[in-house]
Amino acid sequence: MMCHNARVKGPLVHVVGARPNFIKLAPLYLQLRDEFEQQIIHTGQHYDRRMSGDFFDVLGLPEPDHNLAVGSGSHAEQTARIMMGLEKLFIEISPAAVIVYGDVNSTLAASLVASKLLIPCLHVEAGLRSNDRTMPEELNRLVTDQLSDVLLTPSRDANENLLREGISGDRIFFVGNIMIDTLNRMLPLTETIDLGDLPDSFALVTLHRPSNVDESGKLSRISEHLVQLSELLPMVFPVHPRTRACLDKLGFRPDSKRIKLIDPVDYLRFIAMQKKSRVVITDSGGIQEETTYLRKPCLTLRPNTERPVTTEIGTNTLIGDDPAAILPHLENILAGNYKLGQVPELWDGDTAARIKKILQDMSLCEPK
Ligand code: UD1
Ligand code: UDP
Repeated sequence: MMCHNARVKGPLVHVVGARPNFIKLAPLYLQLRDEFEQQIIHTGQHYDRRMSGDFFDVLGLPEPDHNLAVGSGSHAEQTARIMMGLEKLFIEISPAAVIVYGDVNSTLAASLVASKLLIPCLHVEAGLRSNDRTMPEELNRLVTDQLSDVLLTPSRDANENLLREGISGDRIFFVGNIMIDTLNRMLPLTETIDLGDLPDSFALVTLHRPSNVDESGKLSRISEHLVQLSELLPMVFPVHPRTRACLDKLGFRPDSKRIKLIDPVDYLRFIAMQKKSRVVITDSGGIQEETTYLRKPCLTLRPNTERPVTTEIGTNTLIGDDPAAILPHLENILAGNYKLGQVPELWDGDTAARIKKILQDMSLCEPK
């Protein structure tokens, strides 16, 4: 049933909580604005202005309708607080459907609460698998996908993963990569960003995976290697709050001319920095995708990725767990010997429009 000239029963409710969620929410929220009543629930998983509020401003999103302000905590505490807050709100709001994004604790909590209340749940960025159950995100992905009614995938490998897990094909829709919608829209605006304070040529570094930063022996080894590599190429390192706390514990104070440690930056500035950088060294999920789209070399300090398309046809290389393995790749890149990659199928800026069509076709509507 089409939704044209029709009204949804309750609002569509988007649940977001962490930095990468806001970037995925923006294109869909803006795409649906004229036709659907919508509400945004921010769980408060991320709360620093630099991890949260700045993104709403830069991406043109309104203030969230609700903020659960759950803050940080252990996985069980954080997930439970989000679930308790969402259950109450969902009962009050009676959403026509709930839309969840990515693989963070807020995603898992929202899909669990929505499905127990029999509210249709749509998962944007479904089906990604690292096949590494030591990653908290992998557990979040597995459960969210089993519980969600509509699985919106960014790449064909994700469809295959879901089918292999016994999810029925009629719930799975290959819609493309929503992060690229935002990147595509914001790229022209990055021309206005002044990066005059950064070196002419540099490596952009981000690290925040618990497996890299939480254990001080591992982080100390990574830091030592970054210091050595910075002799070849200066580094700019916007530091995630989890990592900041761990680096402070180590007492890491590198020469700021070689490694510039800065606070997390807003999205526009970060994209401008990716564009200007010579190479990106990261363990982020989303940045593996953005570098592929920007055709920028990306060295991922992980043994696996839930985004294999970025290594198979994009510009990403998995370095593994050992930071010593970065050097030969960096040398290759500096010598101009690195793959250019290609942009994956349906990473074209129109993912939100494809999701809108699916929502229009769902029976979430009643005639006006
Ligand atoms: C979370 C997600 C991860 C995602 C990342 C994006 C889970 C399990 N993890 O990891 O998948 O890649 O977000 O950035 O959902 N902190 C602050 N200020 C903030 C937020 C966090 O200081 O605004 C600090 C707190 O000390 C907190 C720590 O960072 O304990 C970790 O935050 P948390 O949201 O639990 O996990 P992330 O590492 O951010
Ligand atoms: N990002 C940003 N500022 C920063 C670091 C990252 O805007 O200082 C953006 C980045 O461009 C990408 C997203 O944050 O769009 C990735 O989020 P993160 O690495 O925190 O999470 P993950 O993708 O690993 O879940």
